[in-house]
Amino acid sequence: MAGNKKHVSYVVSVLLWLLLLIHQCILGRGGGGGGGGGGGASSSGSTILMDRRLRYDFYEKTCPNVERIIHNVGCDASVLIASSGTNIAERDAEINLSLPGDGFEVFFRAKRALELQCPGVVSCADVMAIATRDLVNLVGGPRWEVKKGRRDGLVSKASRVGNNLPQVNQTISQLITLFKSKGLTILDMVALSGAHTIGFSHCKEFMNRIYSYNKTFDIDPSMNKDYAQTLRTPCPKNDHNLDPTVVAFNDVSTPAIFDNAYYQNLQKGLGLLETDQKLFTDPITRGYVDSMANDQHIFFSYFVAAMIMLGGVGVKTGSDGEVRRDCGFFNS
Ligand code: HEM
Ligand SMILES: *[C@@H]1O[C@H](CO)[C@@H](O)[C@H](O)[C@H]1NC(C)=O
Ligand SMILES: *[C@@H]1O[C@H](CO)[C@@H](O)[C@H](O)[C@H]1NC(C)=O
Ligand SMILES: *[C@@H]1O[C@H](CO)[C@@H](O)[C@H](O)[C@H]1NC(C)=O
Repeated sequence: MAGNKKHVSYVVSVLLWLLLLIHQCILGRGGGGGGGGGGGASSSGSTILMDRRLRYDFYEKTCPNVERIIHNVGCDASVLIASSGTNIAERDAEINLSLPGDGFEVFFRAKRALELQCPGVVSCADVMAIATRDLVNLVGGPRWEVKKGRRDGLVSKASRVGNNLPQVNQTISQLITLFKSKGLTILDMVALSGAHTIGFSHCKEFMNRIYSYNKTFDIDPSMNKDYAQTLRTPCPKNDHNLDPTVVAFNDVSTPAIFDNAYYQNLQKGLGLLETDQKLFTDPITRGYVDSMANDQHIFFSYFVAAMIMLGGVGVKTGSDGEVRRDCGFFNS
């Protein structure tokens, strides 16, 4: 049904923002939706995590209803997510990923609504931080207070997106190094990876695991065989024109719910990405996976703590950067 398709692509585009925000935060130097520190000195190390100029009441005088305005726009999304929940609870979804259509709409609409009430006041980086929090909460995840006062970067990230994403072929120790360089611990890394309890991945991200893992194994031996088989249907071998609209859920058991099933999946070899599964096979991180799998409250509390840390990584504040009027364009 066309309607359902639209809903799904709507959800995906919101998740995509979360993905880009998070992935860039972690990898881009001074990253984050409003980051973009460019080539500035990086000698200061990564121990300064929360910029003290970020505050809960940053917009108290200038835009007191900021959270409610963003939330109200997001309410449309909640209806869509709820109504499409059963439709997308299939193992593999065929979705329309062409984002220019209604893509990014929640985010842009939230910003436009803010511009009507408090023009030029609330940064896109803060809108994204709040919208991300709302989204996680909307799909069953925890809620936390977002510190505000981020400024939007003046360096375009577009050209850096590709290179800045964490790679599925990285080793756990490479990932640990990466997260550590942003002041995030191993525990933070495992907890944040729990974001893969929602969202999708394209075939190319796990093709090698289901067809040509290495000389000994076709299928990655850490992967559940039946699971690998089911993934082969939507992602055919030697298909050099993999359909970009075909994706698989990152969390095969409860794809639309923010819960700890992602970790329970890992215990059963049901991790989709190689890096997901390695969190369980690698003894360095396995204990954390087990504790999150055992207790959802533990997952939520570590996730929140890590998201709050992440929300302060590499942000611009004060008079750095700008407050973009249109999140798609620099002001000048
Ligand atoms: C630990 C290293 C990580 C790796 C290697 C990784 C890799 C990936 C890959 C390859 C995809 C699929 C992209 C696509 O096919 O379009 C993905 C999706 C996603 N990732 Fe990660 N990721 C990592 C950590 C994180 C973290 C820390 C978060 C958030 C806190 C996160 C949030 C997401 C979300 C929400 C999606 C789904 C996006 C959508 O449905 O459009 N990831 N990730
Ligand atoms: C995706 O949506 C766009 C417009 O929203 C449409 O033009 C395009 O044909 C759709 N693609 C698929 C594969 O359905
Ligand atoms: C991962 O794969 C990409 C290409 O897909 C390659 O450029 C990169 O070097 C690989 N990284 C590791 C750690 O193997
Ligand atoms: C293939 O991968 C498995 C599991 O990671 C490993 O034990 C095995 O040594 C690998 N084989 C080759 C030929 O690299």
